[in-house]
Amino acid sequence: MTNIAQLKDDLDGQSPRAILKAAFAKFDNIAISFSGAEDVALIEMAHKMTDNLQVFSLDTGRLHAETYEFFEKVRNHYGINIEFLFPDAAEVEDMVNRKGMFSFYEDGHSECCGIRKVNPLRRKLKTVDAWITGQRKDQSPGTRHDVPVVQLDDAFSTDEKQLVKFNPLANWTSKDVWDYIRISEAPFNELHNRGFVSIGCQPCTRPVLPGQHEREGRWWWEEATKKECGLHAGNVIASE
Ligand code: ADX
Ligand code: SF4
Repeated sequence: MTNIAQLKDDLDGQSPRAILKAAFAKFDNIAISFSGAEDVALIEMAHKMTDNLQVFSLDTGRLHAETYEFFEKVRNHYGINIEFLFPDAAEVEDMVNRKGMFSFYEDGHSECCGIRKVNPLRRKLKTVDAWITGQRKDQSPGTRHDVPVVQLDDAFSTDEKQLVKFNPLANWTSKDVWDYIRISEAPFNELHNRGFVSIGCQPCTRPVLPGQHEREGRWWWEEATKKECGLHAGNVIASE
């Protein structure tokens, strides 16, 4: 069993690269969760660190065309495989046939995110011992101000398995990430050229204006403290 408190002490204050190295040294069966946005920085850092790079994405069926194009670009640029996880077809059919295609504007995003993101994620996380996300503290003052560089994933651990979650970019700012992407000439999602900062599903993401926080472009019809979709459910519990 991993001593999370000790690991956190060791990794706090370390660079994202050092945190990633430590994560790969500790776990063989570990995967990067890639959203198709600026978290490409993780792939850029990690692709030469291990011969066994696992990257997965949750294809909700509602992503922007540009994001699908970007996934393909990333696959080719790094010569890696991205594993795509799809929602259960029967669950999606049941929801949209009962409530239409845009029920999240009416009754909140938790049902749709549950079916399209969280259930497929749970399926994937059962197969690994640890996962790596691109979460950062500065992404959401409402929910992510305490994101640690490593944590026990309470939301997805089971009685049989303790799941560890690494957030190597936790202490980087958006500017740090973008400086890194530019310096390393990593590819990026075309939507970033058009005012999109934080990118999720197409109907639930919009560009932000100068001075607006990036999270204001996500689920803009909901309160800042509710802007988590369940992938990082611990943030909402922690911030309540
Ligand atoms: S979200 O929970 O609000 O959608 P956000 O877009 O901020 O998350 O991304 C934070 C991190 O969550 C990403 O860096 C990535 O690790 C993970 N993530 C978010 N969306 C996806 C997705 N569709 N597929 C895989 N990982 C994702
Ligand atoms: Fe559904 Fe919007 Fe959540 Fe995507 S972000 S899964 S479209 S509610």
